[in-house]
Amino acid sequence: MSEKKTIALAGVGNCGMYFCEELSLDNRYDVVVLTRQKNKSFNNPKVNTQVTDYSEDSVLSILNATGSSALISLVRCPEEQYISLHQGFLNACIRSIKCKRFIPSEWAGNIEDFPDLPGEYGKTRAPFRTILQQSHGIEWTLFCHGWFMEYFIPEDKSYMTHLPGEFPIDLKSWSYCVRGTGEEPQTWTCGRDVAKAVAELLAAPQWEPVTYIAGERGTFNKAAKQMEEFYGRPFSRTYRSINDIKESLKQHRDDGDSLQLGLAEAEEWTVSGATACPEDKTRRQLVKYFSKIKFSTLEELLIQAEAVDKI
Ligand SMILES: NC(=O)c1ccc[n+]([C@@H]2O[C@H](COP(=O)([O-])OP(=O)(O)OC[C@H]3O[C@@H](n4cnc5c(N)ncnc54)[C@H](OP(=O)(O)O)[C@@H]3O)[C@@H](O)[C@H]2O)c1
Repeated sequence: MSEKKTIALAGVGNCGMYFCEELSLDNRYDVVVLTRQKNKSFNNPKVNTQVTDYSEDSVLSILNATGSSALISLVRCPEEQYISLHQGFLNACIRSIKCKRFIPSEWAGNIEDFPDLPGEYGKTRAPFRTILQQSHGIEWTLFCHGWFMEYFIPEDKSYMTHLPGEFPIDLKSWSYCVRGTGEEPQTWTCGRDVAKAVAELLAAPQWEPVTYIAGERGTFNKAAKQMEEFYGRPFSRTYRSINDIKESLKQHRDDGDSLQLGLAEAEEWTVSGATACPEDKTRRQLVKYFSKIKFSTLEELLIQAEAVDKI
């Protein structure tokens, strides 16, 4: 068996928990978590927690001290901090002794055909992608999976925080907001499967600039119907036309990092096709990198959520 690799995770919050758990269960890896929190604990002896202010020098010294070979960012921060934070991560990798692989915090959908969606990504991830393309000495990939599938199950069953109005299906109010026609293509993937896929990719000899996976491909109309049948309970429905969404975007476009603008941008993302990872490339990369993984379907996730306390 080849030598264990140490993987550094920056910003373990909601979806980061799946990475922390899955990578520490995987015998190929040791896990280091970088965090700003002095008291952050994962109740997991396999996770080495390192406190940092995420400055380049601080991250560099942790990468070197732990012998990390890859840095994965799962940070979600205010828009104006994203580029400088990730520039620091990139520079730290370039300057490090061993950490020559980097995955920045994307975790979105079809970023190649829709590089500026959701709107926040256009202002943060898109310019940082240009910086990455001009960098040398680092292998990087932008990892995308569509929506986290956990938004379809009750909030207390997963690590994902539900932001009311962000996802079209709201379990608390048992309602479905049909955005656009509801027939727009989507992909969704379980957080745990995203983490397992990244574990496979970390073992692959070479990366591509963008990596896609998709647990399932569908539409919100189909998923809503499936959930209504599964739970035997119809959703109340509201409707948001493309024009309504455009109007909200116009109304809030100068509001900076506001919640209302974020929600309007999530709506725009939902109806644009950008939430769906591109079919051909996703299929090709499934064969190339992820053939060992059995990705959960929505049906399987719903069944599992009934059976366990936490997914
Ligand atoms: N496709 C989807 O459906 C979907 C859904 C949700 C999220 N995402 C994406 O996934 C990524 C992670 O999202 P998440 O929901 O897991 O994030 P999150 O839990 O809100 O935050 C992750 C971590 O970011 C760090 N952080 C927060 N504010 C920061 C700041 N000002 N400066 C530096 N670090 C900060 C914190 O780590 P410490 O406190 O430990 O330092 C936090 O635990 C983001 O890129 C997000 O856009 C995608």
